[in-house]
Amino acid sequence: MECIRLIGGNQLNGDLPISGAKNAALPLMIASLLTEKELVLRNVPDLADVRQLQLILKNHGASINPVSTDANGEKVESPSLSFNTPVITDTCAPYDLVSAMRASFWVIGPLLAREHKARVSLPGGCAIGTRPVDFYLDGLKALGANIEIDEGYIVATAPKGGLVGSKLRFPKVSVGATHVVMMAATLANGITEIENAAQEPEIGNVARCLVAMGAKISGIDTSHLVIEGVEKLGGADFEVLPDRIETGTFAMAVAMTGGNLLLKNGRPENLQAALNVLELTGVNISTEKNGIRIIANGERVRPVSVETDPFPGFPTDLQAQYMALMARADGTTKIRETIFENRFMHVAELARFGADISIEGQVATIKGVKTLKGAQVMATDLRASVSLVIAGLAAKGETFVNQIHHLDRGFENLEEKLSNCGADISRVSL
Ligand code: EPZ
Repeated sequence: MECIRLIGGNQLNGDLPISGAKNAALPLMIASLLTEKELVLRNVPDLADVRQLQLILKNHGASINPVSTDANGEKVESPSLSFNTPVITDTCAPYDLVSAMRASFWVIGPLLAREHKARVSLPGGCAIGTRPVDFYLDGLKALGANIEIDEGYIVATAPKGGLVGSKLRFPKVSVGATHVVMMAATLANGITEIENAAQEPEIGNVARCLVAMGAKISGIDTSHLVIEGVEKLGGADFEVLPDRIETGTFAMAVAMTGGNLLLKNGRPENLQAALNVLELTGVNISTEKNGIRIIANGERVRPVSVETDPFPGFPTDLQAQYMALMARADGTTKIRETIFENRFMHVAELARFGADISIEGQVATIKGVKTLKGAQVMATDLRASVSLVIAGLAAKGETFVNQIHHLDRGFENLEEKLSNCGADISRVSL
């Protein structure tokens, strides 16, 4: 079985390239189902989730191919894929394909909008809470869809003539429900208004791609999206934005180990809340033309309490990594998780390094310790597993992170990127 072996203590220095965002690439790939024309996506990260979604899209009739040139025929470095679905060959997304990854459920939006019907297995994904789909279904119902549940599948049918634009308000911010209803509304008859829409940068990235494909969307990057349905969408050539969670993860790694790292392509405006917190802990952060520079001395950082929130708040997807950092802070921190009810599974694993963390309800109290010690630990979900890598980078001695298939879902070339910057990290088979 493969695991990651780390020897802690090295500082991180140099340039570290940030990959395309997983959580933008996935919905962008799904958006390709909305059109019979070609969608070319640039800067697509090579991740297990991206490969899994390709299987799902192929099941619906997509042909997917690597692209090595730009629109002018010039050779490109950026990893690019083309998606062509002239005909949707199957409107069913089966359990064995969908259960591995929650985002694959999102195909329900394009399938319903384009084919007026969809049968999609209820989703799986990281076990970080109950993660229901009621907002998605209520949103699609507002567009006129009839929804039934049949043997673990959602069966959705549009009215004769297709979905119908409508006004709706999500009771709570949901990234996935916003993606799905926004995509579905692009091909609905009439105007859809979504209130309390998620404002995560990945939503804006997808909305801009849809506009490039011919959709009419206003209010992009706000909580009030207005989508005027069009009859058909065309093709586009579009770039996936850099991964803000990967950026924040490596920023926290430097805060932990010390060093001087340029996070190449990192966009500060997409993770300002987390950068502000890191600055308060004592880390030096500056914006450069081609990225974000993080400088830290490797000493214990100041404790700063945080609460996770939808964008532009502190992201839940950086909570575990931040907790690893606070495990060595010079004092006590409180972290309140407000998005998911079961996202503290890394706490037991961080304790193996000697971290002193207690949980009461949705609040973790972290009493910083002077030294973390290397340990055998097990990844439990994607972001939790990278928090263990961060702890291991600073821990005294040797760490083995097991169950690393979680890491491969969302971090491209993690060991290579970190070892190029000085970390002692490798993938080993035990
Ligand atoms: C997206 O998940 C991300 N996934 C998650 O990243 C991220 O943690 C999350 O947004 C929050 O930012 C992708 O983009 C692929 P939500 P999503 O719907 O869309 C509740 C990672 O590590 N809710 O915004 O599934 C839900 O239970 C992953 O990359 C309902 O109650 O999250 C949660 O408490 C993990 N009913 C809250 O809303 C619904 O119908 C926010 O979830 C939908 C959601």
